[in-house]
Amino acid sequence: MNSAILVEDLSVSFAGQEVLRGLNLEIQAGGPTVLVGRSGLGKTTLLRAVNRLNECLPDCVTTGRVRLRLGGEWVEAYGPATVVEDLRKRVGMVFQTPNVLPVSVERNIALPLRLALGLSAAEIEARQEQALREARLWDEVKDRLAAPAQTLSGGQQQRLCLARALAFAPDILLLDEPTSSLDYKAARGIEDLLLELASRYTLLVVSHSLNQARRLARFMFVLREDGQVEAVDKEALGDKERLLTLMDELF
Ligand SMILES: Nc1ncnc2c1ncn2[C@@H]1O[C@H](COP(=O)(O)OP(=O)(O)OP(=O)(O)O)[C@@H](O)[C@H]1O
Ligand SMILES: [Mg+2]
Repeated sequence: MNSAILVEDLSVSFAGQEVLRGLNLEIQAGGPTVLVGRSGLGKTTLLRAVNRLNECLPDCVTTGRVRLRLGGEWVEAYGPATVVEDLRKRVGMVFQTPNVLPVSVERNIALPLRLALGLSAAEIEARQEQALREARLWDEVKDRLAAPAQTLSGGQQQRLCLARALAFAPDILLLDEPTSSLDYKAARGIEDLLLELASRYTLLVVSHSLNQARRLARFMFVLREDGQVEAVDKEALGDKERLLTLMDELF
């Protein structure tokens, strides 16, 4: 096995209320690995713990260890020598609710690339188009790249956020319900893309759709009530009835 994310004894609490409790998890390189679980149990919190976003919240306490394989090296996410900005360049995240910047479509990708990676205008332009094509958005926005990103539809904004994350060519991509605002066909397009990307990136995807999880998951975990995760075995993944029974038991 070739692991890419190792989570050890991770606990996260908000204002003294524990959400994740001593969670252990090993995510394999590539994937996709799909994480499912009842609403409010801490799936987003777990993704945010991987790229250290929870620490932006003043009443949040994180303990435990998260190790990430970045650029061929193991990095201690919470280690004293780790620079969080560097870590986030290598660990991209697409949020449950699209968080476009209040600038044009093209600047949504160009600005972070320029500020974080210091790329030239030519490099930015090339990456921008490639990322928009990969996110299945190029045809819809190629004639309105200068329009404010907020004028895009919800599903288009979600794909723009995905394109922005892809433009960084990260090692690990965290996707929190990446197709929640998309219609069936657009969602299937993104699922195809994620299956393709799994040969290049490590993908950890939160999904609320069992059908989507079955289509995407090479590995699958369920977040349980007790704040820990349980692996879904390979056989159950291929057997819809068994998977449904398992979900009924766990949810
Ligand atoms: N900033 C915060 N301050 C206080 N509590 C929070 C904060 N963020 C999350 N929580 C709490 O942590 C718990 C887990 O939230 P989280 O968003 O991780 O759940 P989730 O599994 O992603 O749910 P959903 O499927 O609805 O997106 C919830 O009870 C939530 O209220
Ligand atoms: Mg969530």
